Amino acid sequence: MPRKIILDVDPGHDDAIAIVLAEGNPEIDLVAITSVAGNQTLPKVTYNAMRVATLVGSQATIARGAEFPLMRKQLTDHDIIAGSVHGVSGLDGPVLPEPSMELDPRHAAQLIVDVVMEHEPQEITLVPTGPLTNIALAMRLEPKIVERVRGVVLMGGGYTQGNATPAAEFNILADPEAAAAVFAAEWQVTMVGLDLTHQAVATPEVKERIRAIGTPLSQTVAEWLDFFGGTYSSVWKMPYPPIHDACAVARVINPDVVHVEEAFVVVETQGKWTYGETVTDFLGAFGEPFNNLVATKLHFEGFWDLIVDAITRIGERQAQQSTSA
Ligand code: RIB
Ligand code: CA
Repeated sequence: MPRKIILDVDPGHDDAIAIVLAEGNPEIDLVAITSVAGNQTLPKVTYNAMRVATLVGSQATIARGAEFPLMRKQLTDHDIIAGSVHGVSGLDGPVLPEPSMELDPRHAAQLIVDVVMEHEPQEITLVPTGPLTNIALAMRLEPKIVERVRGVVLMGGGYTQGNATPAAEFNILADPEAAAAVFAAEWQVTMVGLDLTHQAVATPEVKERIRAIGTPLSQTVAEWLDFFGGTYSSVWKMPYPPIHDACAVARVINPDVVHVEEAFVVVETQGKWTYGETVTDFLGAFGEPFNNLVATKLHFEGFWDLIVDAITRIGERQAQQSTSA
């Protein structure tokens, strides 16, 4: 049976590729997509989520979520570089279709609660790939979702590095209080952080594989990688862009592609210089129970096989639909 997931996103080029992977892989049933302000403002990331969903022909329910973090001042361009990493639109690069669907009128937090409560226990997995504001709001709106969801597999954090600051990864720093609540709750959180996602780089050979699929979608994804690669090299001096968010979806699809270890993880919300750090204890130094799974090793070829397969499948589906139309 396919794994039913809710993707909570702030597209974002890597969020967009996470949506492509979730929509194209047969092991995933993408039930809903919810938006949260992060890489860009809420209107922009919501519009981007709808455009990408239209591009891949997704039937997922889409709802917009939190416009601001729970407590902290919202990160803006001059604080971090999201605006320059994903562009003014949040998804600069190739032209995308206008949305073919209407937004669900519910707030994302309400939609998350309703979807989880309408399904059987342990059926729904939450896959956040942006700031965790919606997830924190949903667990306060209906605390029962904490025991009812199968798990939370999130892109965020890191145990040896940050990117928005030396200590903090962007998704966590954008709303540390929300992240602290999510990590502290009783559900199983799998942290797919920078230590893992920096292994998922789009090399020239990978881009060539994607281009060779030869469909409009593969061309679009290749152009996203070109744009993202350009900003990643200028902002972070990385030769190839890491496709962070798709790693969280890959973990849900095939745990052999994203290896994890047990650890205690807690989010720093008081530190002046370490605000937003995901403090990760693999050794039991704090004497706290190992409450989370932390992604450590990527199967590089297996990861990109999943991406290429998803793009190919969507292309075949859309070709069939256009011939039968
Ligand atoms: O730090 C990487 C994360 O921040 C990714 O989710 C990217 O989309 C941005 O949201
Ligand atoms: Ca993201």
